[in-house]
Amino acid sequence: MNCRICSNSQIVPASFGNMPIANRFLEEKDFIKEYFFPMAAAFCSHCKTFQLVEQPKPEMMFHEQYAFFSSTSKSMAKHFQKMASNYIQNYLPDLKNAFVVELGSNDGIMLQHFAKAKISHLGVEPSQNVAAVSKEKGVNAISKFFSKETATEILKEYGPADIISSANVMCHIPDLNSVGRGVDILLKGEGVFVFEDPYLGDVIEKTSYDQIYDEHVYLFSVQSVANIFGRHGLEVFHVEPQETHGGSMRYYLCRKNKRPIQGSVTEQLKVEEKLGLDKPETFRAFSKSCEKNRDDFVALLKKLKQDGKKVVGYAATSKSTTILNYCGIGPDLIECIYDTTPLKQGKYSPGMHIPIRSYDYFKDDKPDYAVLFAWNHAKEIFGKEQEFLGWGGKWIVFVPEVGVLEADDSRFLHAI
Ligand code: TYD
Repeated sequence: MNCRICSNSQIVPASFGNMPIANRFLEEKDFIKEYFFPMAAAFCSHCKTFQLVEQPKPEMMFHEQYAFFSSTSKSMAKHFQKMASNYIQNYLPDLKNAFVVELGSNDGIMLQHFAKAKISHLGVEPSQNVAAVSKEKGVNAISKFFSKETATEILKEYGPADIISSANVMCHIPDLNSVGRGVDILLKGEGVFVFEDPYLGDVIEKTSYDQIYDEHVYLFSVQSVANIFGRHGLEVFHVEPQETHGGSMRYYLCRKNKRPIQGSVTEQLKVEEKLGLDKPETFRAFSKSCEKNRDDFVALLKKLKQDGKKVVGYAATSKSTTILNYCGIGPDLIECIYDTTPLKQGKYSPGMHIPIRSYDYFKDDKPDYAVLFAWNHAKEIFGKEQEFLGWGGKWIVFVPEVGVLEADDSRFLHAI
């Protein structure tokens, strides 16, 4: 398949085999009709974009039963509160007349702060069930995909936006040219388009291939974002690395020549050059590292099984779907996954069908080992799971490499 952005042909350096929809936790009766797609990631050496070769239709992924609620993690709630304060302090000089749009506003985790402060805002959230939760928090939201047409409707009803923001959403949207056209319509002359997503640099450095799944059609770098939105009269004037999702980048864009380009952009471009994010060889080497990670992980789990240990999963993340299916790990090696999301509990993990149990049973079941699927929340989880280590429990990690932690390992926290 040619590049979604610039239509040039691309190189396919990494194949992960058949994958189910990462966030479609299912009941036993639905096993037979489960949908799979061949998952491979490609690199476009023209616009430097790293992207999925094939992606299921959006309706398959973001449905009424979509099980991702941003507000399940305390650290994410804090993160979005800080994001809202940052916008208010630095980018909205006239609060009374400000208008903020969020693309993919989920359960209102960020926009609720604008609702509370009575600042005009609008969430554009395609999944009706999560949009409904945001409305209960007083957030003004519509259930739509963002496009040129949606932008035109919003402009007509509310006027131009001072900020168009999104978090963990741009990497989900295959037709970014349509988003670029929409932003061009809706953004004020001096407005800021700001978004953050998992960062390709972190994925390459940490072999965190679990960031690759159906929803993440792109993993961005500064170079690729500049190329993608440069086609729509926008330029990156500032970037800020974020700790969220195991390493993300926040990109600030404006209309060309409206703001000075900050040093953060040139610095990050240098980092990307060092990492080789513009070279196909980098992605071939990454593919090899994924294979090694898989072999080490499976060998460890098999050994623990032989030793008669009780091994479970901690947090049924979307990311875990890639790991489990790529490694071929089912309930024989990981007997269940504990998760706090009621919508996932009592169901089975996509593809490998590991039972999802309510987190309430984690402590009673006293597993010997727990695979830290939500490794991106390690600090928060270690903080609240001291008791687990107390009864002799051990964490299994697979990022940046496969290993067992017998304590709150600061080296591990540093490495991720
Ligand atoms: P996240 O890393 O946001 O997942 P994803 O890969 O889907 O983006 O983690 C969210 C999932 O992890 C959600 O199912 C809830 C679960 N979770 C727990 O069960 N316990 C926890 O302590 C945390 C932080 C998350």
